[in-house]
Amino acid sequence: MDKNSILEKSDSQLITSNTKRGALYNKYKSKIIHNPCLDRTLVSFQANKETQFSWLKYREGFSEKLVTYLIETLKPKPGALLDPFAGVGTSLFTASDLNWQTIGIELLPVGVFAIEAKINARAIDVEALSLVINQIKTINFSDYYDQQYAFNHLAITSGAFPEPQEVELVGYISYCKKHIQDISIRNILLFAAFCILEDISYTRKDGQYLRWDSRSSRSRGKKEFCKGEILLFKDAIHKKLSQILSDLSNSSVESITEEELHAILLASTGTQIDGS
Ligand SMILES: C[S@@+](CC[C@H](N)C(=O)[O-])C[C@H]1O[C@@H](n2cnc3c(N)ncnc32)[C@H](O)[C@@H]1O
Repeated sequence: MDKNSILEKSDSQLITSNTKRGALYNKYKSKIIHNPCLDRTLVSFQANKETQFSWLKYREGFSEKLVTYLIETLKPKPGALLDPFAGVGTSLFTASDLNWQTIGIELLPVGVFAIEAKINARAIDVEALSLVINQIKTINFSDYYDQQYAFNHLAITSGAFPEPQEVELVGYISYCKKHIQDISIRNILLFAAFCILEDISYTRKDGQYLRWDSRSSRSRGKKEFCKGEILLFKDAIHKKLSQILSDLSNSSVESITEEELHAILLASTGTQIDGS
């Protein structure tokens, strides 16, 4: 098939789906009512900015406020909620907090990783995590750089990070993998690094594509693109870890005894409470 017939085919597909959408709209037009409560501040991803545990920017995700609104307004009896397109699990976690049983399916590993990290976070020992984070804030990450954790870049990601920042990032990952024995804590620390990749990179996700900042060596296109401030890895990870810790501290109800904390730290990180 030549290029023109491919274009013609995609044009005709577009017309068909627009026509079908229009027909569907006309069919149900009389039943559609305007609900002023469902404005942008409730339905868009932006609404999740104020939500606790909203650590990863996942623009396709629903807003927690919307899911809460729907459940509370429609008042279905709590039962089982199946989300076959779970994203990073907003509907699942929101419904679970409202005493629903939840089951989710998600295609993308990024969504599954985020959901696992949030499940993990809910059961984490916040005091032990706090101690580990305080220690991490004193570390020079590049000292821990280990080649075995360096990225095997794909063509699409090559050059995405300023080089010194990538060294720090890999150093941080190496530190987590080699020095943090507690799996729950290690996973949260690794997830934190995942959440800041866009903040420290030259790229911005734009639909299915990446836009490249003109400061990168890969800037293309006629228009210059500037994504704004590109954070240093150290600043970005400290900020993200503080946000995670603050969210978890605000939501944590149980605290552990000093004896238990001592035991956990000795078993997990090899770090003693007195810092020795
Ligand atoms: C709009 S998002 C879901 C938002 C989510 N329900 C929430 O509560 O935030 C749609 C998700 O469906 C996922 N998806 C698309 N096709 C899928 C498939 N065939 N099976 C499972 N997940 C799929 C996408 O990866 C994306 O994360």
